[in-house]
Amino acid sequence: MKKLIAGNWKMNGSMENARALIANIINRLETDEDVLKKCDILVCPPFLHIPAVRHAIYGFPELRFGAQDCSAYENGAHTGDVSASMLRDSSCSYVIVGHSERRQYQGESDATVAQKAAQALKNDMVPIICVGETEEEREKGLAQEIVDAQLAGSIPALEPFHDIVVIAYEPVWAIGTGKTASVDDVAEMHGFIREQLDGKVPAPEKVRILYGGSMKPENAGELLSTENVDGGLIGGASLSAESFLAIARAAG
Ligand code: 13P
Repeated sequence: MKKLIAGNWKMNGSMENARALIANIINRLETDEDVLKKCDILVCPPFLHIPAVRHAIYGFPELRFGAQDCSAYENGAHTGDVSASMLRDSSCSYVIVGHSERRQYQGESDATVAQKAAQALKNDMVPIICVGETEEEREKGLAQEIVDAQLAGSIPALEPFHDIVVIAYEPVWAIGTGKTASVDDVAEMHGFIREQLDGKVPAPEKVRILYGGSMKPENAGELLSTENVDGGLIGGASLSAESFLAIARAAG
C-alpha cells in the first residue's frame, strides 16, 4: 500500500506563510520526483488558506490538499461552520475529522465525528478519522478500549463502495510534546486497529492507518516501516518543507 504523508498545518501562519510553504514544497518535489513515487502527499491548511494552496498546486495534481474539519451538517443555520460540499467546491479531496484537539476543546463526540465523516464521504472526499488515548488512559491500561470505542462510534455506516476512509492513530500525549509512542506500542495499536476495522468497513486491508504524534525526520523511518503503519499525520514538522519532505522521503 502506498503510504500517505499528511501535513496538518493546524491554526498556524499567515497567508504569506502558507503561500511560501506550499511553493517551497512544490519546488522541492519538482527536483525530487522519487518522493511522489514512494508516497502520496497531502497538506491540510487552515480553511482561509485553502484557495491560495489550491492556486499554487494547480498543474501539480499529485500533491493533494484537504481541510482540518467540516460541519456535521449539510447546510443551513450553522454560523461559523464550513460544509463538506463547500470544501469539495474548493477541490479538497480529504478532510480530517475528530482530531483530539477538536474532541478536547470543542467537545466533539464520536457521534458528531461520524456525522462529519459521513458528510465528507457524501461529498466525495476521504475522511481521516482520528482516534487516540490520553496519557492517563494509557497508564490505566485502557488505551485499546478507548480506541476501540472511538472507532466504533466515529466510523459512519459505510456503503460497499466506501472503501477509502483513513484512520489516524494519534496518542494525545504524543501530540506536540516531542514524546513519541514506542515502535512496539505503535505496532500493537495499529495491528489492533486493523483487527477492529473488520465489520466496520467494507475492506479493512485497504484502509490506511496513519500514525501521528511528534513524527519528525529523525523518527519517521522507524515509525513508517512498522507493520500496519501506512503513513503519518504530521503537525509541527509539516510547517517546514524541509522536515515535511524529509519525513516523506523516509517512507520508502
Ligand atoms: P505534532 O506532529 O505536532 O505532534 O502533531 C500531530 C498532530 O496532531 C497531527 O494531526
